[in-house]
Amino acid sequence: MGARGSITDLDRLLDRKLLFVTGKGGVGKTTIATALGILSAERGKRVLLCEVEPKGEVGRYFGVREIGFEPVEVRTDLFVMEMDTERALSEYLRLYLKVPIPTKIGPIARTFDFVSKAAPGVREILVVGKLCYEVREKNYDIVIADSTATGHVVSQLASPQGVNELFGVGLVKDQTKWMIDILKDEHQSGICLVSTAEETPVDEAAELAERLRSETGVSLVLGILNKMVPKIFSEAEESYFNEIVSGPMLPVIRRVLGEGIDALVDATSLWKALAASNHQNAERFKSSLGTSIPTIEIPLIPGMTAGVGIVREVAETIEVELT
Ligand SMILES: Nc1ncnc2c1ncn2[C@@H]1O[C@H](COP(=O)(O)OP(=O)(O)OP(=O)(O)O)[C@@H](O)[C@H]1O
Ligand SMILES: [Mg+2]
Repeated sequence: MGARGSITDLDRLLDRKLLFVTGKGGVGKTTIATALGILSAERGKRVLLCEVEPKGEVGRYFGVREIGFEPVEVRTDLFVMEMDTERALSEYLRLYLKVPIPTKIGPIARTFDFVSKAAPGVREILVVGKLCYEVREKNYDIVIADSTATGHVVSQLASPQGVNELFGVGLVKDQTKWMIDILKDEHQSGICLVSTAEETPVDEAAELAERLRSETGVSLVLGILNKMVPKIFSEAEESYFNEIVSGPMLPVIRRVLGEGIDALVDATSLWKALAASNHQNAERFKSSLGTSIPTIEIPLIPGMTAGVGIVREVAETIEVELT
């Protein structure tokens, strides 16, 4: 609930059961997925945060080294896991086909590897299936997927439909139907698309948004522009600055303050140009998503190397932006 007891856009976002955070490599997916996980847990939800392409990043944020397929509670009500398709397969076989699975699934894994290379969608559906399963079983209030980068996420999200269409009737068809029902229900599932406001990432984000729309049927619910270069001037301040640097005042100031003023003017002009280009690309991002998809902006957080500090700041910004 919001500060005045009203329901905020953040509450609405986190009321979904399954969120996918995606975008080009390095734009901030893991940081943002982790921030959303923290915000959900702080709202009293039981959360599963899944790093779909395991790199140990989420665990590092919480100072936990060994995170695997079994969820680890890294802080109250916040569980973290790393996806492992072979473990997901063995869980699937055990749960649905009642096949007793030895701890070592060497031969099965090898066969699976063979099948998954031959049949498109098999590996992908295990990823989405595992996440949807946790939703269906109500093991968590919200499942947040720190998804893979551009392209791969489309095949993952499209896999239940694809596999469903491959099989006319039977077990496989039945087992994809419930996943599709969860994924295509915009009140249950949604995608948060992250980008930085630079030319190529925005082009790629626009392309990804289009593919997610046309190929997956999962709703895009939030656009996030990360690492925004903050504007340093208001419009009035900017014209004042322009007047100073291009008019007769500059030589006077230089005489008083020395030549160091030139470096200051250059740095300020560079920052101004960066912010302007950043904001232009941000507009392109927003218009490519369309007016019906809300977009928030998260500033570039300077001077912090430790990831945890950034996650905290990102979480606070998301909270303010989605009030
Ligand atoms: N708003 C921000 N300000 C400054 N640094 C940030 C911000 N958001 C993320 N970062 C930093 O940028 C780097 C990349 O972020 P992150 O790992 O979240 O991206 P990613 O999209 O998950 O990357 P990958 O595609 O490699 O998984 C990290 O070092 C992170 O701490
Ligand atoms: Mg990542």
